[in-house]
Amino acid sequence: MDSGRGEKTNEGAVPLPANLFDRADETPDALFYRVARMVTHIDAATIAALTEYYREALPPGGDVLDLMSSWVSHLPAEMEFRRVAVLGMNRQELVANDRATDSVVQDLNADPELPYAPDSFDAVINAVSIQYLVDPVAVFTSIRRVLRPGGISIVAMSHRCFPTKAVRAFHVLPPQRRCDLVCRYIELAGGFDRIEQIDRSPAGADPLWIIAARRA
Ligand SMILES: C[S@@+](CC[C@H](N)C(=O)[O-])C[C@H]1O[C@@H](n2cnc3c(N)ncnc32)[C@H](O)[C@@H]1O
Repeated sequence: MDSGRGEKTNEGAVPLPANLFDRADETPDALFYRVARMVTHIDAATIAALTEYYREALPPGGDVLDLMSSWVSHLPAEMEFRRVAVLGMNRQELVANDRATDSVVQDLNADPELPYAPDSFDAVINAVSIQYLVDPVAVFTSIRRVLRPGGISIVAMSHRCFPTKAVRAFHVLPPQRRCDLVCRYIELAGGFDRIEQIDRSPAGADPLWIIAARRA
């Protein structure tokens, strides 16, 4: 199917089984995230490996959207960007993010449509949070809309989570299948190419699995 911008989407493809997206805590996410958590969610060495990947993959001076963001975006300190938009659930965390140029509080499980104009960003990053999305294909469809052609989507995954808020798939599938599942989200959204799985796990620290894709 054509999205209206001359690119292929996968509307009509067989959807993922709904029970992959059940959660132990089905209350609104706003309740769980109302308290600010000024913590890091992966080991320092894993954060350093993610920052190094961003150093290689992100366009200097570009426009970046950090989705499911908090008080920290793990961007290389020496790299400058024209825009770093951050979107997450807790205003206090986002206000404390010293890389952010603008911020939005939005529950992507209640409204997966991103509040940005088409073709706004060179890169959309999502660190250690993909396991909380109940309709990830809708979110990737929106990511495709806000990315410029050739822009990069980067999903960084590890093995920790808030268990009651992670969807069932991330509890029952082993790591390789979880990476494959995220690739499938992107394929189902359509309009991406060069989908890659990259293992940047540091020795003796939390793993780091990256899924990168380019807007076609
Ligand atoms: C484990 S933290 C990771 C935060 C940050 N990306 C990092 O690397 O430290 C999970 C983040 O996902 C965000 N999040 C969880 N559920 C969300 C939802 N439904 N909509 C938008 N953001 C959500 C929360 O605001 C929280 O900051």
